[in-house]
Amino acid sequence: MDGRPIGVFDSGLGGLTVIRALVDLLPGEDLVYIGDSARYPYGPKPLDEVRRFAVELTDHLVHEVGVKAVVVACNTATAAALEDLRQRVSVPVVGVIEPGVRAVLAASQWGRVGVVGTVGTIGSGAYQRAVRRLRPDVELTCAACPGFVEFVERGETDTDQVRVLAERLLAPVREAKVDALLLGCTHYPFLARTISDVMGRDVVLVSSAEETAFEVRRALADPAAPSGSGRPSGGRRTLLTTGDLGAFRAMGATLLGTDLDAAATVEVPPGRSGAHSPGSGT
Ligand code: DGL
Repeated sequence: MDGRPIGVFDSGLGGLTVIRALVDLLPGEDLVYIGDSARYPYGPKPLDEVRRFAVELTDHLVHEVGVKAVVVACNTATAAALEDLRQRVSVPVVGVIEPGVRAVLAASQWGRVGVVGTVGTIGSGAYQRAVRRLRPDVELTCAACPGFVEFVERGETDTDQVRVLAERLLAPVREAKVDALLLGCTHYPFLARTISDVMGRDVVLVSSAEETAFEVRRALADPAAPSGSGRPSGGRRTLLTTGDLGAFRAMGATLLGTDLDAAATVEVPPGRSGAHSPGSGT
């Protein structure tokens, strides 16, 4: 037994898709989520800058909160920083890219796989390398989808505007006739209906969230993982944002379908203006 919480972070609200999967698979675990809304979107930023944000958030979760594992619930941050974070802290660090690749390879019947993600994720080549490593025979088509994250953060998940953008940005994966499409950004499952309408019913949409939750469970069960003491308090969820609390609560509630009244702000790194200490969880 290890009563410490699991720490999870993303640039904003997207990582809540991973929180949902963790709650389903590990309902008794305490979770601390940080949405770095003050600095989103990560996708268009240089990978070095995203790596710095990921290090700051991981350091906060490990050293200030005292988590037993860190889940990088952001593809862009996973692409930019996963190996550095693993070198840096002694607790397990789980990213979303390898789990996502495993899930989409399992879902594809014909070996024609698509991945959509941010400019940073697709440009990093992380998916291309991971697919080549696991299944070099697969035909992979990647497409960056700048703008999708901003629509989700505004709570616009099936407007005409997002549909028009999706028609344009998904054209490469449609033309490649992929049979399985990985939503390689944790914000994108909130756009699943629009993406599915554009891709057609024969294309299986795959999220990395569930497979990531299984990987977290495996990492915690690993006898080599450093252990703590005590018991989790039984599924306490602490949701924090570095940005505007009202927007985080309102959009988070719209996207998740549950209230985020107990969400609070957090200052990462300390000294950034406009935020104060974390409050209590849900
Ligand atoms: N959810 C992040 C990801 O998975 C979005 C990055 C962004 O803020 O652009 O890549």
